Amino acid sequence: MTKVVVSEYLQEAYLDLLRVGNDVVSDSELYRDRTRLLEEVADADAIFIRNRTRVDADLIAAARRLRVVGRLGVGLDNIDMDGCAEAGIRVVPAVGANAVSVAEYVIGAMLILTRGIYGMTGSMVSGDWPRQGHAFGHEVAGKTMGLIGYGSIARHVASRAGALEMQVAGFDPYLDVDDPVWGSVERLDLDSLLAAADVISLHVPLNDETRNLIDDAALSKMRPGAVLINTSRGGTVDETALAAALREGRLGGAALDVFDTEPLGPGPAATFAGVPNLLLTPHVAGNTHESVDRVASMIVTEVLRALDDRAI
Ligand SMILES: NC(=O)c1ccc[n+]([C@@H]2O[C@H](COP(=O)([O-])OP(=O)(O)OC[C@H]3O[C@@H](n4cnc5c(N)ncnc54)[C@H](O)[C@@H]3O)[C@@H](O)[C@H]2O)c1
Repeated sequence: MTKVVVSEYLQEAYLDLLRVGNDVVSDSELYRDRTRLLEEVADADAIFIRNRTRVDADLIAAARRLRVVGRLGVGLDNIDMDGCAEAGIRVVPAVGANAVSVAEYVIGAMLILTRGIYGMTGSMVSGDWPRQGHAFGHEVAGKTMGLIGYGSIARHVASRAGALEMQVAGFDPYLDVDDPVWGSVERLDLDSLLAAADVISLHVPLNDETRNLIDDAALSKMRPGAVLINTSRGGTVDETALAAALREGRLGGAALDVFDTEPLGPGPAATFAGVPNLLLTPHVAGNTHESVDRVASMIVTEVLRALDDRAI
């Protein structure tokens, strides 16, 4: 019988589908117990993972029968792709399945940070009427959204920003100048984008080129009062430099969904203590009821097809 290991969370309805004709070992915490994980994959034909299970050389060597890795998400940095290719293991990621959820997070974070009125509830409930001054933040209409990386998610952000009457600019050296996907998006180099954008959103993979792409030098090229949003991968933004820029009031705000160290933990979290105009979320930008269901449906279908040409 075909054996399937599920080492992170998968909805029960999809586990039931997998159980038809397959021996399924499922434990949403299995990725934490490396010894047991390597034992379970030794005779497995397929494994379902999210971003916590490391599919590295040790796992590939242990998994002698493994034919397919179903990645319930899109990031591949926890998977040794070359090692899988050499071992003839197919990797199936959920490309595009949570792009809309991430794009909506970016737009929501942008509106919250540029308007600056959504933190008043506590003060209202305590009986205050915090209406000093005449202006509360900025409109986004007419402002510029700068996208670093213009792949699948960035394009969903671009269309939504356009609907809000923003100008959209992008930096993506790997996308041909003549590629029609640029459409009305202005193609800029990184420095010009940093200087032009009122809101900057990162949508790149993490690699040697993008590590610390937004460091202190890049932050100082951004417009005073600009907003930075990172839903891509931790490590692309220098967190210490960002915290300093926010403390010094050089930036208008920032939203981070991804971090150098995940989970953040007390040490790294201290970097952000008392930092103003900062939204932090625990790598959930892509997780909505709709996207979680779409991801599971896509990957379970693809993996079953890869195993024996069955579709659900
Ligand atoms: N926070 C979340 O919940 C969440 C959910 C989904 C995806 N992500 C992450 O979002 C990021 C984008 O995902 P996607 O699906 O849009 O990926 P994608 O592959 O469709 O797009 C990435 C783009 O980045 C470009 N790029 C690569 N190197 C670059 C560089 N040095 N400078 C500028 N551009 C560069 C590529 O050409 C590509 O167009 C990934 O890192 C992914 O892991 C996060």
